[in-house]
Amino acid sequence: MSLPDLDPNSSLTLRKAAMRDVNVMLELIAFWAKKGVMLPKTTDVMFTQIRDFYLLETQDGGIAGTVGLHVLWHDLGEVRSLAIHPNFQGQGLGRQLVLGVEAEARGLGIPRLFAWTLEPDFFVRCGYTLISIDELPPKVYKEYNKSAMMKAIGVA
Ligand SMILES: CC(C)(COP(=O)(O)OP(=O)(O)OC[C@H]1O[C@@H](n2cnc3c(N)ncnc32)[C@H](O)[C@@H]1OP(=O)(O)O)[C@@H](O)C(=O)NCCC(=O)NCCS
Repeated sequence: MSLPDLDPNSSLTLRKAAMRDVNVMLELIAFWAKKGVMLPKTTDVMFTQIRDFYLLETQDGGIAGTVGLHVLWHDLGEVRSLAIHPNFQGQGLGRQLVLGVEAEARGLGIPRLFAWTLEPDFFVRCGYTLISIDELPPKVYKEYNKSAMMKAIGVA
């Protein structure tokens, strides 16, 4: 699968996702899912969870990256479907998206975020710590082939 060849020097706008973005977000997620580094998303999940998602938009309307914040409980949220377009990797954008959903979670009064990932070292760079799956509440769907990374984000 190929992605649109976006200009890596484009200025970017961070905004909430909208329905018109779903196909391009799914393409970006599917690109990485085919490489085995994240799970694919389905259209129906994207439609019903569209309010969870943010994206970074290029000047030409391309999508340089996306991330979701899913609220699981009063004190726990999940960073989901973090994906950066290959032309934009290594520019600090993955961290920017994670910090963005942390800011929203903090505003909601959610003190902890976690992420399932095959890239635990990236999340360590963002201040997350590897935890045991047993530390997650029973309500959380367990992904045994991935690392669970947790961060206390400092809600007052
Ligand atoms: C993993 C991913 C989100 C990183 O995004 P990025 O924009 O390239 O990363 P950043 O530039 O924000 O990097 C932030 C820090 O993490 C480090 N880093 C980035 N990717 C890393 C990786 N795969 N492993 C370890 N460290 C990584 C960077 O060196 C940087 O370190 P610093 O603290 O010294 O500055 C991106 O490469 C991606 O979308 N990968 C494919 C999908 C995926 O794996 N999603 C995440 C898990 S579900």
